[in-house]
Amino acid sequence: MIYLDNAATSWPKPESVYQAMDEFLRKSAGNPGRGGHSMALAAEKVIEETRLLVARLINSPEVNRIIFTLNCTDALNLGLKGLLKAGDHVVTSRIGHNSLVRPLRKLEGQGIRITRLPPNPETGFLSARDIEEAIEEDTKLVVVTHASNVSGIIQPIEEYGAVVRKHGRVFMVDAAQTAGTYPLDVEASNVDLLAFSGHKGLFGPPGTGVLYLSDRVELDSLREGGTGSNSELEEQPIALPYRYESGTPNTVGIAGLRAGLKYIFEQGLERIRVHKQSLLLQLLEGLSRFPEVILYTPKDTSMQVPIVPFNLKGWEPAEVGAILDQAFDIKTRPGLHCAAAAHRTYGTYPHGSVRISLSFLNTSEDIESVLQAVGKITSSKNRAQ
Ligand code: ALA
Repeated sequence: MIYLDNAATSWPKPESVYQAMDEFLRKSAGNPGRGGHSMALAAEKVIEETRLLVARLINSPEVNRIIFTLNCTDALNLGLKGLLKAGDHVVTSRIGHNSLVRPLRKLEGQGIRITRLPPNPETGFLSARDIEEAIEEDTKLVVVTHASNVSGIIQPIEEYGAVVRKHGRVFMVDAAQTAGTYPLDVEASNVDLLAFSGHKGLFGPPGTGVLYLSDRVELDSLREGGTGSNSELEEQPIALPYRYESGTPNTVGIAGLRAGLKYIFEQGLERIRVHKQSLLLQLLEGLSRFPEVILYTPKDTSMQVPIVPFNLKGWEPAEVGAILDQAFDIKTRPGLHCAAAAHRTYGTYPHGSVRISLSFLNTSEDIESVLQAVGKITSSKNRAQ
């Protein structure tokens, strides 16, 4: 089996992730912050060590500004709904996933005004100048997708951040597809709210996500409940990170995420990126040799995560995905990738594309196998005609 659907969720995980989760559940799975016994303390230690690793990954100035969430969608919902009020204006890009598109659409129905900016159709990039021009008197928030889960193009958030800070607005970034692949620095990029999942490039399990919030923003909590702290109060405590972390957290998931993060630090982000980039180039080069392949990737791949959307002339993406799965045991994701707005922007709506998304744990042989499979699929059609 060859797994090439890492933008959805990464698989396999490093061996240490499986081991850490197994060991945690057997030995340390108390309820963190609840009670002072050794199992509760062991669980709390794991959570706080993970928080520290996340803070290091994104250069958060304070560890407690890292909030654990269920996934990136949960983090985006907390950031958007905790911040915005009727009458606010928001600037966003037209390349978002439904995790951003849908909460924004709902907020629009509650009196929040949204400006949606398309990237340049030639380059795939949205310019900081376009963002600056869209900022109005009542603009509260600029929220962008760092790398689209449809195209993989990495947008210049450092440039956006400088503009947004200059105008004193809140800057939020969805880094679901870049965390663990591309360096993230909330200080250097002037990011106020950074959302990402733990189960993609960071190699944690599903059910893990993060929201970073800077000291320039204050969010309402969306959930209130037990935090393990200030139990005498009926009101939600305001101390971070507990204000936003009510209920028993996904401790075993966070234990897995800790192992994933340690693995990333051991390997080094640069080495990870270089390997992914070399697989990306091998794949693009190979696919571009087939005249039947339509590639939707930019010419310059230096600002791209290893996500490759393509179609085969005369084939539906769903058909290609199913053949790759059933005849070749290769897992890709065809269709709209929960991001119809992005497919509209890139001209692949309504059928979408076949998406190959790579992990650090993929190999050159995996790429060779998918290229051979694509070759067989295209020649079978040619023969039938
Ligand atoms: N957002 C994930 C994807 O792109 C689920 O497939």
